[in-house]
Amino acid sequence: EKGGYDYFMLKEIAEQPKAVADTLLGRIDGSGSLTLDEVRIPPRVLREIDKVVIVACGTAFHAGMIAKYAIEHWTRLPCEVELASEFRYRDPILDAQTLVIAISQSGETMDTLMALRHAREQGSKVLAICNTNGSTIPRESDAVLYTHAGPEVAVASTKAFLTQLVACYLVALYLGQVRGTKWGDEIRAVIRDLSSIAGAVEQVLGTMEPVRELARSLASKDTVLFLGRHVGYPVALEGALKLKELAYMHAEGFAAGELKHGPIALIEEDLPVVVVVPSARGRSVLYDKIVSNIQEIRARGARTIVIAEEGDEAVVPYADHLIRIPVTPTLLQPLVATVPLQVFACELATARGNEVDQPRNLAKSVTVE
Ligand code: BG6
Repeated sequence: EKGGYDYFMLKEIAEQPKAVADTLLGRIDGSGSLTLDEVRIPPRVLREIDKVVIVACGTAFHAGMIAKYAIEHWTRLPCEVELASEFRYRDPILDAQTLVIAISQSGETMDTLMALRHAREQGSKVLAICNTNGSTIPRESDAVLYTHAGPEVAVASTKAFLTQLVACYLVALYLGQVRGTKWGDEIRAVIRDLSSIAGAVEQVLGTMEPVRELARSLASKDTVLFLGRHVGYPVALEGALKLKELAYMHAEGFAAGELKHGPIALIEEDLPVVVVVPSARGRSVLYDKIVSNIQEIRARGARTIVIAEEGDEAVVPYADHLIRIPVTPTLLQPLVATVPLQVFACELATARGNEVDQPRNLAKSVTVE
């Protein structure tokens, strides 16, 4: 049932283009509008929402962090994202105008369930993003948008994460559509890009051999750091989480702008640092800043592993290892930038002799608080 793969995780990584396409299926109509009829929160209610709060755990939390950027940019609604396990203990400000989005692959994570129960008690509407039909979280929510990743067996989430991102983008765009904010050429272009993103994920998967080779060469390292800015920051966190979960290595993700406020002290000769570089198109401030971050760490001896768009030549002189990803709009880039990090962690774990599908001490679904 592993479909010829050695591990479920490898199979699930390979299934990502299909999972992404399936999650988009039937949700974008011929005219480029979204039809999320299954979101049974009336448009009238969605127009009155004045704040979005996302709750989730682990990998799903990283999807939520990325969703915040998309929701705020496309809808101009303030959006908070919080670890479900922290949420209800701080007496969060919630009311009937708050839309709470609970993201959970399994639909059974107790921390997320308790957070959504708390939100509903305060009168907030809860929308679940979930991969498991009929599980507890969607049953207790006002509405659900299912991800169509299919069953995910490996403990470390891969295809479910990518489909959570797709669902988050769909929700963000739908909120924009219903509320009439920023609805125009920019959004139509994003929907077009989203429609072809499965092909981009497929393309990345076809170029992973050098990433595997690199991972094997780092098997005896103790630490790997990950840096990103904007949506590249949650991608860095996700890359680090995967490495902790699977390779049992010290791995940390940082916002690249925080480097000089502390983490740069960790840089030493030959320390592997993975950097997620945003789109080079337009040479945004974001882009220029991260290029100077790469220079800063390399000057201090770091071994730089740079994930950058095809055609981005400016990073080449500072990259000890270069991992290419297709040109993708910045907000959607996590869908392609995460894939090499999954492959990297999986291969490193194997090289270290670890059990990839069932990492020590972890469970696929944590049903206690
Ligand atoms: C963890 C899993 O315990 O739960 C992670 O090991 C997962 O992979 C997290 O991201 C959240 O799970 P779920 O099912 O709520 O998305």
